[in-house]
Amino acid sequence: MNFGWIDPGLLRDFQAEATDAYRLCTIDEGWVERFGRDILISFKRVLARERLLAELQSWTSSVGFDLGRIFARFVPRKGEERAPPRLIVGDPGENLQTIATERHLKFGIDFGTGYSPGLFLDQRENRRYVRHITPKRLLNCFAYTCSFSVSAAYVGAATLNIDLSKKSLARGRENFALNCLPTIEHRFIADDVRAVLPRLLRKGEKFDVIILDPPTFSRSPGGKRFQVEHDFENLLIDALELAERGSHVLLSTNCSTLREHALEVMARYCLKVARRAATSHRPAQLPDFPPGAGASSIWLTLR
Ligand SMILES: C[S@@+](CC[C@H](N)C(=O)[O-])C[C@H]1O[C@@H](n2cnc3c(N)ncnc32)[C@H](O)[C@@H]1O
Repeated sequence: MNFGWIDPGLLRDFQAEATDAYRLCTIDEGWVERFGRDILISFKRVLARERLLAELQSWTSSVGFDLGRIFARFVPRKGEERAPPRLIVGDPGENLQTIATERHLKFGIDFGTGYSPGLFLDQRENRRYVRHITPKRLLNCFAYTCSFSVSAAYVGAATLNIDLSKKSLARGRENFALNCLPTIEHRFIADDVRAVLPRLLRKGEKFDVIILDPPTFSRSPGGKRFQVEHDFENLLIDALELAERGSHVLLSTNCSTLREHALEVMARYCLKVARRAATSHRPAQLPDFPPGAGASSIWLTLR
């Protein structure tokens, strides 16, 4: 996975498409991301953090990149606590927020609220695809800060956002506001996705795009566990009942045991159970991510 630093030509491509949030470097034991003017170093060992910091400083001066603050976060091993990033270069008196731009859309970034700052860069191609297919009604399960919905709303969709976290949905609303998108056509439900999908089915709701990007593991306030390897199948079977003909369904996960092939096998099984037919495709490889890094995703197109 020693991908190294991205090509300066790619920096120019991102600038030309009005994107300032992307991965700058990937090595075996860490990676570096840009969010607007700020940088986030993710490291598995302190030695990797020190190496990435030193390389960042010489790389930015060689490509003429105007460096803002630098944050760093430790990437925990399985089962270890996730801590928010720490400021390592910059003014500690400044607030911990900034704004990142992706293809002219703005997203609020907050280095102080938790391990993840608010925008998953490995979903950039999937957000682009959402804009490309111009949904009318998008269902965003595990919506987090609603980046998929903002992308869909920008091209005219109404969206329904479900997430356990009220705070993440509030940040989602702020992302709509940042882009001057009124939220009148958009619904935000703070609840367990598994409880909401059957309610939507009873009400006869249908969607033409459904986003399923669950976490590897979570626990709802009532103590109910979600484990992606165990629960993704049932989630997809329920979601398929809400998908209208010709709709698109994204299956995406960071779980290392569920790569694209496993998602395709699972999708075939769920389609059979739900008596639906679909074609599937994998999104284009991101130019700033080495193959195999980031989330695994497939898109289904239902018949
Ligand atoms: C991997 S993030 C989703 C990222 C999002 N798709 C994006 O691209 O920005 C996982 C989100 O799922 C939410 N979550 C976890 N378990 C949930 C559940 N059972 N029902 C609803 N939301 C859940 C978390 O609060 C978190 O915001």
